[in-house]
Amino acid sequence: MTLNEISSVREKLLADLDTLTGADQLVAFQLAHLTRKGTIASMFDQLRDVPKEEKPFAGKELNALRQLVEERYKEKESLLGATTSASTRSTIDLTMPARTVPVTSPGHEHPLMKTLNEMISIFERLGFAVEYGPEVEDDEHNFGKLNFAPDHPARDMQDTFFVKPSADWKAGETAPLLLRTHTSPVQIRLMERQAPPIRAIMPGRVYRNEAISARSGVAFFQLEGLVIDKGVSMADLKGVLLSFARQFFGSDVKIRLRPSFFPFTEPSAEVDVSCYICGGKGCRVCKNSGWLEIVGSGMVHPNVLTACGIDPEIYTGYAFGFGIDRTAMMRYGVSDIRDFFENDYRFLEQF
Ligand code: DAH
Repeated sequence: MTLNEISSVREKLLADLDTLTGADQLVAFQLAHLTRKGTIASMFDQLRDVPKEEKPFAGKELNALRQLVEERYKEKESLLGATTSASTRSTIDLTMPARTVPVTSPGHEHPLMKTLNEMISIFERLGFAVEYGPEVEDDEHNFGKLNFAPDHPARDMQDTFFVKPSADWKAGETAPLLLRTHTSPVQIRLMERQAPPIRAIMPGRVYRNEAISARSGVAFFQLEGLVIDKGVSMADLKGVLLSFARQFFGSDVKIRLRPSFFPFTEPSAEVDVSCYICGGKGCRVCKNSGWLEIVGSGMVHPNVLTACGIDPEIYTGYAFGFGIDRTAMMRYGVSDIRDFFENDYRFLEQF
């Protein structure tokens, strides 16, 4: 590179600058000549090959060239009123290679939906239809027809999110609406519109006015089950849940039923599955008990059947309700329910 070459580059760049007419061309000029890989920078690289005694002159000329072109460039920029302001130019280097995100599996189901979809397909194979209901419910469906007493604590503001039916609604006018606290109201809606036999599961999101902690959030998912027919018994319930547990947790798990209470079932039972991690010996996941609680269940209360126009003298049925988040926590050994909602990429990419 000779001094002549430097001066001819100077002439060319200044002439080019004169012809620029818009912001796009300015950016293109900047990219071609003024960035780290641009013309001027590469001339600095070529200084290496200039004979030793000429180096100081060439270096000085190059510095002068860079200064001049940058000045003229700025003048041109303000003349054109271009939007490539000094601050964007200095912080965004368009020639930089893109930062790669370490994606091991590009796009997949959220662990909660993965769990839910797996559960749905197991129950579909067991002959269950899939039904849905509204998330905004009335008291009748969420509580009343499910045999909740009028003074049941779940009806309290502390446990339930209420919704004003309209903006100008005043307390006492009509019953408020609410965000369903469980998927059980979908049972009621189904029995109201379909005569037995009924065999369905009802997945969906539910809401509770609770303090957020590692064990509970204000919104979570449940999966409800309902079977109504002639001669349905507790043995059928047990058979279906055992079959589910074996397909979902492993073919050698056992289940056990513990007496419990729900207003809408009688008798009621909590169902536990033997810990699929330690085989029942006791470990961190089952908190050394050997058992994991998986689902609430029971025989549908005669009052519930009657409220939905089904004769309890002719029909009987069972119901169950899973918490999807808890099931997913057990399945994957997740100890904090909030991990499912925070969308931390490092958490999600493990599934
Ligand atoms: N609805 C109950 C809850 O949210 C769960 C439940 C328990 C549903 C027993 C049922 C059942 O259908 O039979 O806690």
